[in-house]
Amino acid sequence: PHFDCSGKLALIHNGIVDNYEELGKKIRGHKLLGQTDSEIIVHLIERELTKTQNLLSAVKKVAKMTTGFNAFVVIHQDYPYLVAAKTGSPLVIGLNPGNNLVSSDVASLLSHTNKVIFLEDNQIARISPDEVRLENFSSVREIKPLVQTINWTAKSASKSGFPHFMLKEIYDQPAVLAKIAESKVKEARQLASSIAKAKNVFAVACGTASYAALAGQYLFACIAGQQVIPAIGSEFYYYDGAIGTRSLCLALSQSGETIDTLQSVSFAKSRGAKTVSLVNVQGSSLDRLSDQTILLAAGPEKAVASTKAFSAKVALLLLTASALKRKIPRAVIEIKQAVRAIRKILSPDYQKYLKKLASGFKHVHSIFILGRGISYPAALEAALKIKEVSYIHAEGFAAGELKHGVIALISQRTPCLVFAPNDETYSDVISGAMEVKARGGLIIGISHKPNPQFDYYLPVADSGNATILGNVVVAQCLAYYLAVARGLDPDMPRNLAKSVTV
Ligand code: G6P
Repeated sequence: PHFDCSGKLALIHNGIVDNYEELGKKIRGHKLLGQTDSEIIVHLIERELTKTQNLLSAVKKVAKMTTGFNAFVVIHQDYPYLVAAKTGSPLVIGLNPGNNLVSSDVASLLSHTNKVIFLEDNQIARISPDEVRLENFSSVREIKPLVQTINWTAKSASKSGFPHFMLKEIYDQPAVLAKIAESKVKEARQLASSIAKAKNVFAVACGTASYAALAGQYLFACIAGQQVIPAIGSEFYYYDGAIGTRSLCLALSQSGETIDTLQSVSFAKSRGAKTVSLVNVQGSSLDRLSDQTILLAAGPEKAVASTKAFSAKVALLLLTASALKRKIPRAVIEIKQAVRAIRKILSPDYQKYLKKLASGFKHVHSIFILGRGISYPAALEAALKIKEVSYIHAEGFAAGELKHGVIALISQRTPCLVFAPNDETYSDVISGAMEVKARGGLIIGISHKPNPQFDYYLPVADSGNATILGNVVVAQCLAYYLAVARGLDPDMPRNLAKSVTV
């Protein structure tokens, strides 16, 4: 928290105040300890308080002065309540009589309550232990809050005996996927019918979710002959000329709070496009913003690096692509096969082997990951997981690109993960592995069968179009064990945030 000059007023802030320089000029003479925009805000509120003696109106006035996407929560020794204001970043109030709470993330509230109020932009709340009063910035009239019940349990947001959330969430995947195969068919069919009606379809997302979108592109093309254009959230605007009233913007997000994804959806709406979201957090900004939402039902994901939400999105996209060709029963079987394959990966012996492997590679400088077809997004996601939690440089490549430059990076004992599933990519990706091996690289093969090119072999049973799920789980585990072997906390990687709201 940042304090005012008196030390009685404290503020926490999520976001970036874009006009902090201009606002800073208004508080000359105040004693600032640091150089953050947050501190300027707390002193501005102090200044307003001398005029109004009303904490709510002082915060409101200052929040209105700020530009950018922000959330502020303020407490003052002389006032028996908190004030929370939102101009972009997420804020959620947990209702727990006698002990109301406020947070930026609903998962953190679950051990106290599942009754919540999501603040909208330009709303301000006065939160006392027993009462919440909500107003818009533009009026002093109380507004009736929409109280939502979150159907996640406190236990689902706990480590349940696992040493880290990341490992627990990796282990959640068989259950999440089985649930999707059983309960999401109807929604997948509805989405398929919207896709079939659209002139063009964009799958918009950031980070791990963007690799799920890329996997979706392959699934839709190969199962249904349907084009889906993956677009990174921060790049979506540049497709402007192609987005119109007959476009469909399919947004993918775990948190539903990623600013670039949200802005893409707003932008698509401004162009008259239909918007559908695959999102994990019920009540999140994306859920509220989109015309239609399909909840991933993966349960709370707390580790910064996304794991189960990725699998849930890919499974939903597989169901949807299959629905376009009336092949849902086959997709359900494939997802169930993937569940069995993942259970094997998560068995104690397999995990022991992965742990040993990771410990042997913990000091390497770089890891390369090769895949073709749908294993290309798997390679990108594998590399991202390794980078995020172990800080080892990792790159995913389309194996066919090796000869176009990447091969220059291979030196003696460079570890190279190779996805070689039982599909049309098998022999070509093995040729890539041979090229790497010929230059001294070490091949870690992830495949349904052993191959003489593999120095290490990680089996993943074939599950047709759902094989990517097991393949990525192997990479998630490897990333996790690399982080642990290097003495790092995989749940909280340096410099990263679970929800990128700025
Ligand atoms: C952050 C997280 C990533 C995540 C990305 C997109 O960068 O660290 O793990 O993939 O945001 O998040 P979303 O909530 O939109 O899926």
